[in-house]
Amino acid sequence: MKHIDIVELFNNKNYVNKKVTVCGWARTTRDSKNMAFMEINDGTSLKHLQIVMDKTIIDNIYQFKLGCSVKVDGTLVESLVMKDSVEVNAEKITLLGDCPPDYPLQKKRTTLEFLRGIPHLRLRTNTFNAVFRVRSVVSWAIHEFFQNRNFVYVHTPIITASDCEGAGEMFRVTTHDYDAKFDSEEEYYNNDFFGQKAGLSVSCQLEGEVAAMAMGKIYTFGPSFRAEHSNTPRHAAEFWHIEPEIAFAELPDLLEIAEALIKHIVNTVLTKCASEIEFFDRFMEKGLIDKLKNVVNNEFGVIDYIKAIELLQQSGQKFQFPVAWGKDIQTEHEKYLTEVIFKKPIFVINYPKTIKSFYMKQNDDGKTVAATDLLVPGVGEIIGGSERETDMDKLLQAMKEKNLNACEYEHYLSLRKFGSVPHSGFGLGLERMIMYITGMSNIRDVILFPRTVGDIK
Ligand code: 4AD
Ligand code: MG
Repeated sequence: MKHIDIVELFNNKNYVNKKVTVCGWARTTRDSKNMAFMEINDGTSLKHLQIVMDKTIIDNIYQFKLGCSVKVDGTLVESLVMKDSVEVNAEKITLLGDCPPDYPLQKKRTTLEFLRGIPHLRLRTNTFNAVFRVRSVVSWAIHEFFQNRNFVYVHTPIITASDCEGAGEMFRVTTHDYDAKFDSEEEYYNNDFFGQKAGLSVSCQLEGEVAAMAMGKIYTFGPSFRAEHSNTPRHAAEFWHIEPEIAFAELPDLLEIAEALIKHIVNTVLTKCASEIEFFDRFMEKGLIDKLKNVVNNEFGVIDYIKAIELLQQSGQKFQFPVAWGKDIQTEHEKYLTEVIFKKPIFVINYPKTIKSFYMKQNDDGKTVAATDLLVPGVGEIIGGSERETDMDKLLQAMKEKNLNACEYEHYLSLRKFGSVPHSGFGLGLERMIMYITGMSNIRDVILFPRTVGDIK
């Protein structure tokens, strides 16, 4: 169907006074004595395009109901009412698909919660239209960042036999019938599709390290799956994960890359999605634009885990979870650190090894690991990463302490034998990044069809 994207008409003055054909869904209709008006949106821009018709062309504009789809032929003209805008003087308007009055997106019922119940239609609202265009631009900016810095984009398997985080949060992959009976767990897995236990990958890191040991700098960008029973606004069972892995890099190098990546993403969105960010600043998070400009223009904080614990202890604040060396930094603590104390993104570094994954490089103190989490106001942790342990003995010992079976990590371990190098990597959660940039406060509202514990629509 030959037609022009609405966004092109807003951005390219060459179309003014030319014949155009546009398509879209009706957002509003109204009329006056001699004229009829309809606003349409085709999903390419946040702003709707106004269609103006002489009533001699259309006898009843209200036959075009909210949500119906239309094709319009006419002339693009400068708007007489809206400064710096354009509209179409229609010569012909064709109904493509009618939309009966039980269309759920009527003006009055549009809370985010209500919209979660209609994931197949909610993208037609301004909010979701904006969220998903930002999501697309963020993804593009991430590729651009890495591609411009000699990183190779690798695709790692989604079905895997090893649990990267060792947290036992893998979804199992099986082809056994629901009533299949076996005498033992071993027999169960031996008779399954792969002849051993398999699951959906929680992280691409282990395979990413393999690739980095040959290609030097790699990144992955794909879905990760976690069977966490965390019913929170920032946990999803399926999320998109960006994981760079860098050879010849130590923890300070990692912080530099992570900070540059976040700044590049924010900068790109501020430039390419200016109207979407203005919209979010107005309706989702007052002061969002200033917040994002501060992210780009200021250095992120860096703080040792032990210092973070001290600051929390000295804060005089009552927390639900205990604050002590060796305890995890919980969401409430992350919020206090980033929103009350630092008021900007901060890297917390050097966590106790007991609360972090087996692969993290052990520091000389014997107690901590060269790990980092990037915490941001409003969302909390958006990045988790570390320098990797290269000492085979320390790695085997850490696996033993965390009850991991070394046989499942054979390839990973042998990287330490053949030309091992200092290397580091991190994981950025795409959805949490989108939440931070848009001010959307629930992860369910930045995913097309969110999968969370107890919910799959
Ligand atoms: O901190 P995590 O668990 O780190 C890893 O998976 C490492 N293997 C990454 C690496 O070093 N290559 O996860 C990294 C990030 C988190 O900071 C968070 O942004 C996101 O992934 N994330 C989730 N996002 C949404 N829902 C969940 N259930 C998430 N779990 C982690
Ligand atoms: Mg983490």
